[in-house]
Amino acid sequence: MKSLCVNVDHIATIREARKTNEPDPIHAAVLAELGGADGITIHLREDRRHIQDRDLRLMREVVKTKLNLEMAATSEMANIALEVKPDQVSVVPEKREEITTEGGLDVSGQIDYLTEVTKKLQSAGIPVSFFIDPDIDQVNASKKAGAVSIEINTGKYSESKDAEGKDLEIKKIQDAASKAAFLGLKVYAGHGLTYKNILSILKIREIEEFNIGHNIVARASMVGMEKAVGEMLQVIQSNVHQ
Ligand code: PXP
Repeated sequence: MKSLCVNVDHIATIREARKTNEPDPIHAAVLAELGGADGITIHLREDRRHIQDRDLRLMREVVKTKLNLEMAATSEMANIALEVKPDQVSVVPEKREEITTEGGLDVSGQIDYLTEVTKKLQSAGIPVSFFIDPDIDQVNASKKAGAVSIEINTGKYSESKDAEGKDLEIKKIQDAASKAAFLGLKVYAGHGLTYKNILSILKIREIEEFNIGHNIVARASMVGMEKAVGEMLQVIQSNVHQ
């Protein structure tokens, strides 16, 4: 069985566009769970551009499935995670100027530091996952640093324009997934996945969980549009003063 964690960051992006209180990512998380999601993923970024600290605290109370916190491996974030205790921490690289996470974590380049952060979180009972590119050296380093799982970055695959590029990326993802499973790591995947491009990734047996955000939120905004407009028309037409 393959499971799905729904990333609700971009519900918060819409809220933050107006600095108001709707739509609320907490409501989206509840609805995603009602829809069958196996987990809820949120990324508390250093600049708090979408998810806020309040969201994380409330999610911890409300989410009944698995709460996966994506975060940079800073001491501020590690302290927040130790306090809130999500069901999993996914360590991601973070740059202020990026629109979304760009590329995977360089585990081999900061292995001592990541080993220390991982140990701290895992000794508090929080399993740690690393978001990495499909690269064998990074898979080996993730195992060495003590991660329980890796999330393979499917960003490059999803951006590939032609069949040749896609095939090349699929091969890299397959090789990284096989190596990780061989080492006893759980294997997840995410970034840029859509209702269409996930089909090839589903053939990779070792991948047991997907983190998908933008495409689901985009679709939700479309499939709900007709109903939302109908409801506003109903309010207008039934309250017109002649
Ligand atoms: N996995 C990680 C580590 C991410 O940073 C993101 C984006 O927040 C996702 C998965 C989901 O990517 P998308 O929104 O493109 O589905």
